[in-house]
Amino acid sequence: ADADRNAILEAHELTAKFYHYLLNNTQYGTEAKEYLRGRGFGDKLINQFMIGYAPTQWDTLSNFLSARKYDPSLMEKGGLLSAKSDGSGYVDRFRGRIMFPIWDRDGKVTAFAGRIIGEGQPKYLNSPETMLFTKSRTIYNLHHARPAIRKSKQVVLFEGYMDVIKSWSAGVKNGIATMGTALTEEHCTILARQAEEIVVCYDGDDAGQAAAMKSIPMLEGAGLRVMVSMLPKGKDPDEYITEYGPDAYLREVIDQPATTTKFKLIYSRKNHILLKEEGRKNYLLEAAGIVAELDSAIEREVYLQELSREFNFPLEVLKQDCHIKHQELQ
Ligand code: CTP
Ligand code: MN
Ligand code: MN
Ligand code: MN
Ligand code: MN
Repeated sequence: ADADRNAILEAHELTAKFYHYLLNNTQYGTEAKEYLRGRGFGDKLINQFMIGYAPTQWDTLSNFLSARKYDPSLMEKGGLLSAKSDGSGYVDRFRGRIMFPIWDRDGKVTAFAGRIIGEGQPKYLNSPETMLFTKSRTIYNLHHARPAIRKSKQVVLFEGYMDVIKSWSAGVKNGIATMGTALTEEHCTILARQAEEIVVCYDGDDAGQAAAMKSIPMLEGAGLRVMVSMLPKGKDPDEYITEYGPDAYLREVIDQPATTTKFKLIYSRKNHILLKEEGRKNYLLEAAGIVAELDSAIEREVYLQELSREFNFPLEVLKQDCHIKHQELQ
């Protein structure tokens, strides 16, 4: 089994270099290269993240690996090849995709994410779970980001690979992402060992904001101090950087994270029609519940004062309600 593991690891390392070479130095990679250029990827970034291209043919990688004497059935187990349905052999798992190597914590390539060029389904095809790759424990770019995380004691959590890479090019060296799947307890534990503070920076759409609401208590539960960087409606970090540039991104998004309380209040607001009496009342009730989660009476007071001022509503009443809710939580 150790020999199998080593062969699969070696094959991943070779495959990453092969795909990277095909992207950079052959005709096969032309369209992918143009697509990446259009999305703001320079050569340096392509090289730093060892981005590659898997051609559309069925046998590019399988021939490459056979020529190097790798057992195709083992390569299938490792997630690089797929078995043909009639049992007559193996074909490349990734075809016609831009390839992002995924590294484990030791910096070894153990999997890939392959993005389709342009529109199409699935947008990303990831490696299957293998003896070397478990999605629930893998954190994209952690190996790369670890020095910066250790130094600042802070990590930035993104939703997507593109967001991590483009943020890196904008100067965010402590950015990571999960593998498209939801954040797990295991991810949280790993991150809490590396950092004290985490900034959640998910996409500025409903899915991203809902995912942030779920991630916050899990990250706090692991002992991390959590902040939330919010993006304008419908934008993800990559799109923000493309539209407004890296300086605005650092200044307006990354360096201005909100507290989780502030984020939850903003999130809750969206579900209420504040122009209506009923909506205002329901929002204030929910807001008092959010503020009630805070341990410090001083912090609670600050948020309640703000609500009181904004809604022209008696502070004492908000405090009473919040106090009762706070005690219920104890
Ligand atoms: N994802 C996935 N498989 C899909 C769609 C999404 O694994 N079919 C994961 C990927 O990790 C992706 C993340 O979910 O990076 C976020 O999805 P989304 O916001 O839709 O993609 P982007 O990261 O914005 O990708 P792009 O900018 O290339 O469109
Ligand atoms: Mn998204
Ligand atoms: Mn996105
Ligand atoms: Mn998108
Ligand atoms: Mn995107």
